[in-house]
Amino acid sequence: MKLSSANINVMVKACRKASKILIRDFGEIENLQVSLKGPGDFVTASDIKVEKFLIEELQKARPTYSILSEEAGQINNDESFKWIIDPIDGTSNFLHGIPHFAISIGLEHNKEIICGIIYDPIKDEMFTAEKGNGAYLNNKRMRVSSRSKLKDCIICTGGHKRDSKDRELALEEYKKFSSKVFIPIRKFGSASLDMAYVAAGRCDGYWQRDLSYWDIAAGIILVKESGGFVTDFNGENRYIQNKTILVTNSKINKEMIEVLSS
Ligand code: IPD
Ligand code: CA
Ligand code: CA
Repeated sequence: MKLSSANINVMVKACRKASKILIRDFGEIENLQVSLKGPGDFVTASDIKVEKFLIEELQKARPTYSILSEEAGQINNDESFKWIIDPIDGTSNFLHGIPHFAISIGLEHNKEIICGIIYDPIKDEMFTAEKGNGAYLNNKRMRVSSRSKLKDCIICTGGHKRDSKDRELALEEYKKFSSKVFIPIRKFGSASLDMAYVAAGRCDGYWQRDLSYWDIAAGIILVKESGGFVTDFNGENRYIQNKTILVTNSKINKEMIEVLSS
C-alpha cells in the first residue's frame, strides 16, 4: 500500500527532483571542508537553490496555493491552501558533511496540516502522510513504537540555540530526562527527521523549544497518522504558538509531561 493522492504525488515528485541538486552539492562539501574558505557560502547557495526549485515546481502544479518557506518567507495567494517548506532541515549536518538532513514539505488546508513529506536523500528514505490515510516510509505503513516506560526509551532533542533566552530551561530539561532514561539522549541535528523517527517507531519521544513552523509542519501529520501524539509541554494543542513541542508514541506522553513539569 502507499499514498497516491494528487497532492502527495506533487510533493514527492518535486522533492525527488530537488534532492538531485542536494545530493550533487553534498558531494562537493567534502572538498570544501578542507579549503580555506570552507563550505559556508556554498551551503547557503545550495539551500536557496533547492528552495527556489521546490517553489517553482509546487507553483507549477498548484498555482493558487500560498507558500511559507524558510528562506523565501511568505508568498501569498489562496490562503486556504499553503505549502510549508524547509528546503534543508539539518543544515549544520549538511555543512559538516554529515549525511543526516532532509527536505520537509507540509500542506496546510484551512490552517490544518493535511499532508506531509520528509525526504532524507542520502538514505533514500521518503516519509509521507496524509490525513486519514496513514503514514508510510518508502510505501510501507509506519507505526509509532509501543514502549510504555520512559526508562526503556530512546528520546531525542535538538537542544537549545546558542542565543536562546530559554537556554537554561532547555539544559534543565536535558538533565531531568537524562536521569530517567538508560540509553543516553540522542541529538541527531534535524528536527524533521527526529519527528519522522518517532513516527517510524525508531525513537519513542522528542521534545524541543524554539522551533519554527517549517521545522515541524510535515512531522506533525506523520506522527499523528502513525498513532503518536503531538502536544506542547503541558499536553495541550498550543505547540505552534508556545514554541514548545513534545512528540511521543501513544504510551509515554504523560510520563514525559510529568518530567517536563517536575
Ligand atoms: C534546525 C534543525 C535542528 C534544530 C534547529 C533547527 P535548520 O533547522 O532542525 O535539528 O535543533 O532548531 O533550526 O536550520 O537546519 O533548517
Ligand atoms: Ca529547519
Ligand atoms: Ca532549513
